[in-house]
Amino acid sequence: MNELRLLLRDASLRLSHAGVGSPDTDAIALLAHAWSTDVAEVRRAEVLGRVPDGVVLQRFSALIDERATRVPLQHLTGRAAFRHLELAVGPGVFVPRPETEILVDLVAPTLRSIAAPVVVDLCAGSGALALAVKDEHPSAAVYAAELSPDACAWAQANRDRLGLDVRIRCEDALTAFPELEGQVDVVLSNPPYIPVGMVPIDPEVRDHDPQIALYGGSEDGLRIPLQVAERAAQLLRPGGLVVMEHASSQGDSLPARLSTQGLWDDVADHRDLTALPRAVSARRR
Ligand SMILES: C[S@@+](CC[C@H](N)C(=O)[O-])C[C@H]1O[C@@H](n2cnc3c(N)ncnc32)[C@H](O)[C@@H]1O
Repeated sequence: MNELRLLLRDASLRLSHAGVGSPDTDAIALLAHAWSTDVAEVRRAEVLGRVPDGVVLQRFSALIDERATRVPLQHLTGRAAFRHLELAVGPGVFVPRPETEILVDLVAPTLRSIAAPVVVDLCAGSGALALAVKDEHPSAAVYAAELSPDACAWAQANRDRLGLDVRIRCEDALTAFPELEGQVDVVLSNPPYIPVGMVPIDPEVRDHDPQIALYGGSEDGLRIPLQVAERAAQLLRPGGLVVMEHASSQGDSLPARLSTQGLWDDVADHRDLTALPRAVSARRR
């Protein structure tokens, strides 16, 4: 086994012993980051038997040490992939998750059926959903609201760096965009929804995602999601679509509670790519 492979294997073992769930992927991503290159180049270097210089090795070793303390990979690289975008992330903002990507697929048919749709992302975090929608549906007028000033600053910085024309307001989703009431075609939201008291096991989530991004404000985690749904109903035109992410345990309870709001038709739940219940959709009555 060549030197680079040994280096990666040792780093991966270290991460594995620290309880990191994807040690091989993380080790190679951190080496790519330390080497200021991408994973494909590291793979090529592996094949060619190339070895990074001492400065890169030191940087890599320090990154592995940090990752072993369960600092999120994305905080160390400063980047998170979402749909076709690379978003800047770090302390103070929720790291966008792959399972959230299906929300963009769920709204796509509706967005394609309208010439210039109006879209609102409530609880925007890094701006993942709003920016991905604008990227994939350039004719849409996209708005986003985020309460945390830190997270909102990340969203605005991502927007500016990516050059995507999304109006991002640093304010409460429950009152945001009064000027759009009754006119919106699509509302997306990935609100905080973890049941209060159910503290996540993974240190990356528990210790590094902001608390305001996690907990849904009640024992079942549905208080904030239901409030966001009510705000979505005020924003949407009749027939407008809401799509909201939820915990895999809320695939029955959230659709049932939405049905009792008396605001929605066609309430339906959807599974993510791992077949877990993940998002509810409904049409404004
Ligand atoms: C689970 S994170 C989702 C972030 C982003 N949409 C994503 O999918 O990566 C929830 C976000 O909602 C924000 N938030 C919580 N309560 C809010 C409120 N009342 N108004 C606006 N944003 C809120 C949190 O700060 C956090 O950024």
